Parts: sequence; C-alpha cells; structure tokens
Amino acid sequence: MVRPMYKITKRTQLSQNEYDFLIEAPRIATKAQPGQFIILRINDSGERIPLTIAESSATKGTIRLVFQVIGKTTAELAQLNVGEFILDLTGPLGMPTEIKDYGTVLIVGGGVGIAAIFPIVKGLKNAGNRVITILGAKTAELVILAKECQEYSDELIITTDDGSLGMKGLVTEAMEQVIAREPINYSWAIGPSIMMKFCTETASNYDLPINVSLNPIMIDGTGMCGGCRVTIDGNIKFACVDGPEFKGTQVNWDEFISRMKQYTDEEDACLADYQKAQVIHNG
Ligand SMILES: Cc1cc2nc3c(=O)[nH]c(=O)nc-3n(C[C@H](O)[C@H](O)[C@H](O)COP(=O)(O)OP(=O)(O)OC[C@H]3O[C@@H](n4cnc5c(N)ncnc54)[C@H](O)[C@@H]3O)c2cc1C
Ligand code: FES
Repeated sequence: MVRPMYKITKRTQLSQNEYDFLIEAPRIATKAQPGQFIILRINDSGERIPLTIAESSATKGTIRLVFQVIGKTTAELAQLNVGEFILDLTGPLGMPTEIKDYGTVLIVGGGVGIAAIFPIVKGLKNAGNRVITILGAKTAELVILAKECQEYSDELIITTDDGSLGMKGLVTEAMEQVIAREPINYSWAIGPSIMMKFCTETASNYDLPINVSLNPIMIDGTGMCGGCRVTIDGNIKFACVDGPEFKGTQVNWDEFISRMKQYTDEEDACLADYQKAQVIHNG
C-alpha cells in the first residue's frame, strides 16, 4: 500500500522560534473548520503531536500550521524545508468552534495561541459579528499574524509585556478596558494555560461568557487513550473529542496546569539527545 505523504509547499520563519508552514493535505483542507486541529508524525520513529489548523483552503488543497519550537518534535519539524514531506497527518480532529452571529465578540490570543484564534476571528467575522481582537505577546517580534487578524477584525488591540508594540501590559488589562467600554456578547481566549485562566477570571468578573481551547498532552487524538483528559464542571472529558474548546469557568485549572508538567524530565532529556545528535551530524 502506498501511504500518502504530506508535502511542505511554503515555509516562513516568523520569529526566532516560530514557524509558519503550508502543507498539501487536500482531504483535511476540504473538511477543516475553525477550532479543529491535526495530529502529525514527521517520520517512522517520530511521536505524534497536535497542532491547530491555522487556515485551510479547500480550493488549493492546503492547510496552514503555525508552531513554536519548544521540544524535540517541534525542533525537528522546523528543520524541514519546502518540498520535503511529513509522514502522517490525521485530521481534522476535535469539535469545531460554534460559529454564529453572537453580536459583539472579544477574541484574545496569546503567543503562539494567536495562530489558533485566527480561524475563529475569520469565521466569526464572516458570520456577521462585530469582532474585537486582542493579541498579546512578550515582545513585538512575537506578535504573529497581526495583518491577517486585522483584516477580519473591527478593532485590533496589541499588547506586549515590554511595551515594544501597542499597549504595554497584559491581555487581561486590554480586556478590562474593552469590557468596561461597551457590551460584549461572547468571548474566547487561547494561549498559555495561565493566560487562559486569568482571562477566564476577568471575563467572569463581568459575567461575560468565555471559551478557551485546552492543549493537554495528546497521543491518539481520537478518544482512545484518555491521555488528554481534563476535568470540566466536575466531569472527566477528553479534550481531543469533547474539546479542545470548553467554557473557561468550567475548567479545573489547577489540575490542568499540573498535568501539563508530568513528562517534563523525559521531554528535556529527549530534546538534549536530539540537539547532541544534530551537533554530531553537522560536525
Ligand atoms: C489541540 C492542540 C492544539 C495545539 N496547537 C498548537 C499550535 O497551533 N501551535 C503550537 O506551537 N503548538 C500547539 N500545540 C502544542 C503542541 O502540541 C506542543 O508544543 C508539542 O506537542 C510539543 O512537542 P515537542 O516534542 O516539541 O515538545 P515536548 O518535548 O513534548 O515538550 C516540551 C515542553 O513543552 C511542554 N508541552 C508539551 N506538550 C505541550 C502541549 N500540548 N501544549 C503546550 N506545552 C506542551 C512540556 O511541558 C515541555 O516543557 C497544540 C496542542 C494541542 C493539544
Ligand atoms: S489523546 Fe487519547 S483520548 Fe485524547
């Protein structure tokens, strides 16, 4: 049996550690909806990692993946060039975001989480919403996809921790200002766990409903193993099939954040081995 391979057709480095890939995957591109993700395996010895579908084009048969290098697999992926292939790509996975006309929506993206909010911004704008988008990052260099988000937003606010672009401060401060200024009907926050936890607190202070997208460690991504289990409103849910989007107020944040750290030692060792092998290989 000939296995399909997934060709990289465009590769852009967005910042020191962030990459933007366009990949030929016509079957996934036809079905992908905002909020969904894929699981990929680079080669036969690789592990499976989840990445959000940042954009898809059914006509071109391509999907866009934007990722940050944080460990071995993402470091290996970043080494691939245009014309090279990814062995396995499964998707689209997960429940899509509920796209409809809510009225005015506030969408917050932090760091590489901006890649995951972009399809939601686009979907909600096309569904007739007034869209206010907040993008937050540590420094100006890490504010990704600002042009794309701008195109589909009625208002775009940028915050950076060091003030190198836009407002100096955290996304929650920008959220407070918008919520105090005008009525908002629904909100989303996607980014580091701690950011989503605090965005949830901010939104709840104003009784504003908020959805977050959880990124627990995943293995199969199809509901078979429970590796991605999270506690939602006191019940066990599998983020890969029941999510990844959930109501922020229902997430058990402390449990979620502590479970994310469970393989840190193995992940650090794996990255160190890979970097050592790269040094030997490159002389
Ligand atoms: C549904 C979903 C969608 C995602 N979408 C994106 C995306 O669009 N772009 C992107 O850059 N990343 C995304 N992620 C995170 C991505 O899967 C991880 O960064 C990746 O698995 C890390 O693999 P690694 O081998 O490079 O690092 P590892 O060696 O596995 O991990 C290195 C470090 O990252 C932490 N880590 C491990 N897994 C995750 C995780 N799932 N999320 C956050 N931190 C993690 C570890 O605690 C460790 O400290 C998504 C995760 C999920 C569950
Ligand atoms: S990753 Fe196995 S059940 Fe979700």
